[in-house]
Amino acid sequence: MTLLQLDNVTKRFGGLVAVDHVSLEIDAGQFVGIVGPNGSGKTTLFNLISGVFFPEEGRIYFEGADITRMPPYKRAPLGIGRTFQIPRPFSSATVRENIAVGAMFGTLGKKLTVDDSMDVADQLIEKLDLTAHREKAAGTLTPVEKKLMEIGRALAMKPKLLLMDEAMAGMHPSDIDQMVAFTRQIAEEENISIVAMVEHIMRAVIGMAEKVIVLHQGAKLVDAPTQEALKDPKVVEVYLGGSGGR
Ligand SMILES: Nc1ncnc2c1ncn2[C@@H]1O[C@H](COP(=O)(O)OP(=O)(O)OP(=O)(O)O)[C@@H](O)[C@H]1O
Ligand SMILES: [Mg+2]
Repeated sequence: MTLLQLDNVTKRFGGLVAVDHVSLEIDAGQFVGIVGPNGSGKTTLFNLISGVFFPEEGRIYFEGADITRMPPYKRAPLGIGRTFQIPRPFSSATVRENIAVGAMFGTLGKKLTVDDSMDVADQLIEKLDLTAHREKAAGTLTPVEKKLMEIGRALAMKPKLLLMDEAMAGMHPSDIDQMVAFTRQIAEEENISIVAMVEHIMRAVIGMAEKVIVLHQGAKLVDAPTQEALKDPKVVEVYLGGSGGR
């Protein structure tokens, strides 16, 4: 079943085409890696899916419903969760409170009391190994701890689609392996239908994604099973060749 569908989506910033007529389909339960050089449009694509920006052209469908111009606060309760490339915690609130906010505004929404939301947060804090930081103000965490907390906040939403934007950047390779294993496990346990993500880190992409979508200058260059995509000469050219990157 198709969970998310983009149909010919374009986003411009003035004269710059940040996302250029991108069409893609992501199935329920699928792990997808979205990669591409700096400035290739990955974060903008996530912003279009989560509703931070609306596209100038094209349509976006979630579970078959047209969400192209739906504001973010209406998308979250449908089950679209995300982390930010630059973490955006409520700095003076505790780690526990930050994660509980996810439970309050996600698919569980109005069904949970504040106490129940705190319980959801506590369970995730334990799973993410953040117990020592539970009552600390989020602003005092290290960048990697903030990323872990963001993952916790997004998971507390019980999303159907989880968009992870460079959620593992800056982590030690062994921590990346652990995060990959954890994300896979929790996606199965919590019945998260899909985790899409953006990682420069090939280690995480290979360990996690069944399919890879490669963006280059806003356009979709390759959309194929992971091993096939990584061997594609177009991908090699973009990453290693003279015309790749900026
Ligand atoms: N709010 C904005 N206003 C103007 N231009 C923007 C804005 N957001 C992104 N851009 C431009 O759109 C293009 C795509 O940016 P985007 O952040 O989506 O790339 P990215 O693939 O996520 O890059 P990175 O790997 O560096 O995170 C870039 O040229 C960027 O400068
Ligand atoms: Mg980005």
